[in-house]
Amino acid sequence: MTLLAEINTDDEIAECVYKPIAGERPLWDFPDGTLAGREVATYLVSAATGWQVVPPTVLRDGPFGPGMVQLWMDGDPTVDLLDLARSDRPALRRMAVLDVVVNNADRKGGHLIPMPDGHVYGVDHGVCFSTDPKLRTLLWRWAGRPLNEEAVEMLELLSNELYGDLGAALEEHLTLTEVRKTRTRVATLLRTGIHPEPSGEWPALPWPPI
Ligand SMILES: Nc1ncnc2c1ncn2[C@@H]1O[C@H](COP(=O)(O)OP(=O)(O)OP(=O)(O)O)[C@@H](O)[C@H]1O
Ligand SMILES: [Mg+2]
Repeated sequence: MTLLAEINTDDEIAECVYKPIAGERPLWDFPDGTLAGREVATYLVSAATGWQVVPPTVLRDGPFGPGMVQLWMDGDPTVDLLDLARSDRPALRRMAVLDVVVNNADRKGGHLIPMPDGHVYGVDHGVCFSTDPKLRTLLWRWAGRPLNEEAVEMLELLSNELYGDLGAALEEHLTLTEVRKTRTRVATLLRTGIHPEPSGEWPALPWPPI
């Protein structure tokens, strides 16, 4: 269940997305933890990259109990999301790298939020961090191509973080094996130096694409 909600502090009001854990449908391939926890874990990885792919996301209490709360980003509704997904914007290339790291099983067009300044946010990360290869995305444009310098630098940083505070924070939301596999995916990216191609073990494209 996904709700549009409002958060109020003394001096600010903001719109947000609220997905209560109580409204989650159980998924056979994501038996552990919660989808909300996976959303927060993806935010934590994004925050560690400094790339701001994922809008600020926390786990907190709400009217239907604890859930994930994510800041609403006012995207440009006139952008064609399938055209956008095929474009070579730097923000999408970064998102493609992040999606490999978190093993995103659902990067469809509707999960792209294009901002007026050219940035693109990614949302809906409930089905990330499987221990099986499940990357399903529209962002295959760079597959087989070398990672660029900023990606390699970021991955080196992320690799350290995953053995430190970030790893510890992820363990609050994911299983130990899922955190270990995340380290392995980063190590593999650094070793091969390329954007991976579809594994062949899993549908590579989301359906429907939007
Ligand atoms: N933080 C956000 N900022 C702006 N728009 C958002 C945000 N989160 C979600 N949305 C919009 O709301 C839609 C639904 O959110 P989301 O995909 O996370 O929920 P869902 O329950 O998986 O819905 P669906 O089944 O349609 O994918 C997204 O496709 C996107 O257009
Ligand atoms: Mg969705």
